[in-house]
Amino acid sequence: MAMWKRNVRWWFFAALVLTMSTGLAQQRVVNVICSVTQNWCEALGPAFKQATGIDVRIVSVSTNEALARLRAEQANPTFDVWFGGTGDPHYEAFKDAITEWYRVKAYNDLSPTMKAAIGTTYIPLYQGILGFGINPKVLQDRGAPIPRCWKDLANPAYRGLIQVSNPNTSGTAYTLIATLVQIFGEEEAFNLMRSYHRNVAEYTRSGVAPRIALGRGEIGIGIQFMHDLVEFKKQGFPIEIVAPCEGTGYEIGGLSLVRGAKNKANGQAFMDWAVSPAGQQVGFRAGIFSLPSNTKTPLIEGIPNPKDFKLINYDAKKYGDPDLRTRLITRWTREVFPLPRR
Ligand code: F6P
Repeated sequence: MAMWKRNVRWWFFAALVLTMSTGLAQQRVVNVICSVTQNWCEALGPAFKQATGIDVRIVSVSTNEALARLRAEQANPTFDVWFGGTGDPHYEAFKDAITEWYRVKAYNDLSPTMKAAIGTTYIPLYQGILGFGINPKVLQDRGAPIPRCWKDLANPAYRGLIQVSNPNTSGTAYTLIATLVQIFGEEEAFNLMRSYHRNVAEYTRSGVAPRIALGRGEIGIGIQFMHDLVEFKKQGFPIEIVAPCEGTGYEIGGLSLVRGAKNKANGQAFMDWAVSPAGQQVGFRAGIFSLPSNTKTPLIEGIPNPKDFKLINYDAKKYGDPDLRTRLITRWTREVFPLPRR
């Protein structure tokens, strides 16, 4: 055979091997955008790799930031799965065809209440309940009482003492707006947000963040999910947890398959694992106290139990609607955020 023909064959063979091995490498990875605590996000990769041999590439960002990123990449997604974060943005993502429904293997074992609230839009991953974290010493030093109700937050004694997240980035902050609107009606809820806005020291990017300033004694009140406070309290920070007297809202944390995922089969395998008892226990090991969705996951002590709280009947379908969500967040950004503080 002529030399040039042999060379062409060799190059063809080498190119084929390279293409196949690149393809195989792609098949052993899943790209996850993660909206829970950094600890939990980081623990997922090694545990899933150990269980399946598949590598996980994780990017962690707050829930509303994740939705914005997934929306921007809708035509050419770089993520396969969206893990965690509050439910309303997952609901919106499904409605806007950014994600698609996938029935995980353990679907029958997942909490019937969580499933009923969201229908076949996204997979329920956990439940978290909103409340106040309190640093009693900081309040005592200011001669301020411990707040027991949402309306108490407007007390001028708390000037500069509250931290809560910003709904433009954080899912927690949107759950808060939706909760107040459901309890008080929209006008009264916005009046209340305007009144306690004067007491807010800082609107944080992430919903978990206020507990840090709270633990350090820089603020007296953090509005956030109670399970994140349980974790901090167990670590020895001098904080108390209060459930507001008027009742409170909650999240059904989400898990979604990105529509058009490049590694769809691996994404589905990741989702199957994430809601298995073994997958959900990874959260416990990372110090997570939200209530897992799989009824077969053995629970640990300290998880706030929905039965112990006055919960509102949070309308996940209504408040996950893309138009309503955009309208409420825009209204907050225009009517509350720019007002002077202190
Ligand atoms: O435990 C972490 C957590 O509070 C989740 O319960 C929640 O879904 C998520 O963080 C919300 O984060 P963010 O408000 O930053 O979107």
